[in-house]
Amino acid sequence: MRFRGKLEKAQVAITFRDLILLPGKAYFEPREVDLRTKVTINYGLNIPFISSPMDTVTESEMAIALARLGGLGVIHRNCSVEEQIEMVKRVRRAESFIIRDVITISPDDSVEHALELMHRHSISGLPVVENEKLVGILTGRDVRFANPLLKVKEVMTKNVITAPQSITIEEAKRILHEHRIEKLPVVDENGKLVGLITFKDILAREKFPNAARNEEGQLLCAAAVSPFDIKRAKALDKYVDILVVDVAHFHNENVMSSTKQLIENVSADVIVGNIGTYEAAVDVITKIENVAGLRVGIGSGSICSTYEVTKAGSPTLFATAQVADALEEYGVRMPIIADGGIRSSGDIAIALSLGAWAVMMGNIFAGCRESPGTLVAIGGRYYKQYRGMASPSARARRFAIDRYAVPAKEIAEGVEGWVPYRGDVASVVKELVAGLKAAMGYAGCKSIPELWEKAKLAWLTPTGMEEMKPHSIYLPGETGRITP
Ligand code: XMP
Repeated sequence: MRFRGKLEKAQVAITFRDLILLPGKAYFEPREVDLRTKVTINYGLNIPFISSPMDTVTESEMAIALARLGGLGVIHRNCSVEEQIEMVKRVRRAESFIIRDVITISPDDSVEHALELMHRHSISGLPVVENEKLVGILTGRDVRFANPLLKVKEVMTKNVITAPQSITIEEAKRILHEHRIEKLPVVDENGKLVGLITFKDILAREKFPNAARNEEGQLLCAAAVSPFDIKRAKALDKYVDILVVDVAHFHNENVMSSTKQLIENVSADVIVGNIGTYEAAVDVITKIENVAGLRVGIGSGSICSTYEVTKAGSPTLFATAQVADALEEYGVRMPIIADGGIRSSGDIAIALSLGAWAVMMGNIFAGCRESPGTLVAIGGRYYKQYRGMASPSARARRFAIDRYAVPAKEIAEGVEGWVPYRGDVASVVKELVAGLKAAMGYAGCKSIPELWEKAKLAWLTPTGMEEMKPHSIYLPGETGRITP
């Protein structure tokens, strides 16, 4: 009976295409839907979309663009620590209310050196600092016609208008306007320079009111790490809000104990994954302290060959429901990220209905202009390169080795190919948002927590699936046949 029992107890591992979202009574219009959510216990998003940490999906350009739109990009780790830190710093520098790593100059330096610094960093002003204290400011106007051999202290502006650390954006705007200045150094109670506010950064903030930001007003920034690379995690910790422990099978004793140590060594919020079962979720929440989010789903990704190679996996929807129930039963409120297999806004709506707080997408974002993959023309159409992080070529890059193949695993579990070019991520996100809001309108759910509470699902038979998409019509540009 032991083995027959196994068969009898086999669960149905549902996937995206098995289910349909049932209509429910709506008391609002789709445009009123609120898509705000959380990605970790401490950080919120304005749209529930995250891009995968993959080397054909997320580098700085994608991370900046997505954060500006209200989502999040997780910088991949298939590179050296230095390269990953550089990408993260670019996100950090993209916009901030108060810049923290301010480039400064000393009063005894030459004007020539100041000009060189301004040119090298493409900046138009430098706070002048002596023994950490702010003693002046040098602007483009001060040095434009000055003799390059003069000392900074001879040409700098001495009576600097400063701001305390507690300043708000509105106050900063008022001061910048009142004094007709473009830069406002931030000092502590001892006169030590601790930051800089610039007019340019305030303008950029206003251009992206929906952006996902941290408490400092910087674009939210996340990076992936191996659970065994605590050194990398510590190096990144200075610059990121969120670290994502990035392994194919997190429910593994070594991975879990190393992650425990990693979390103790960093101050960023740590998301862990991927997991796919109720038991894994229980183990994570009961055995590892201070986990800030869970990434779930194994084998559903469009470039995954894990299932083909191993017959193992936990499709994203199945995994999401398992993990969501575990958290609910243990009374833990923690963001769940449904990762892999998403092809449309409808898929996103179903993942959220089954307990996800946000979704992670690789394929969809790989096709955008902001992804790092190469753009090619094939047969008169544009495509971008997309590869699994366990594909042969990604594995060949040294740093991929520890995600899917802690040396014992000597087999590729991913494929590589091309995805249709989709243009700017902003237009892709706009379409996904509109589709998701429409789906939530049908379901009668105005917010993500309402989807958890009220959304109802139904099974679709394979024949029903044929009916629930365009049919009996010739679609130009498709296969050239009349669809059944
Ligand atoms: P989509 O469907 O959006 O999925 O392309 C992206 C997710 O797939 C996972 N991933 C992999 N899974 N082999 C796998 O089995 C791989 O080589 C691989 N690379 C990425 C990952 O979770 C990602 O977010």
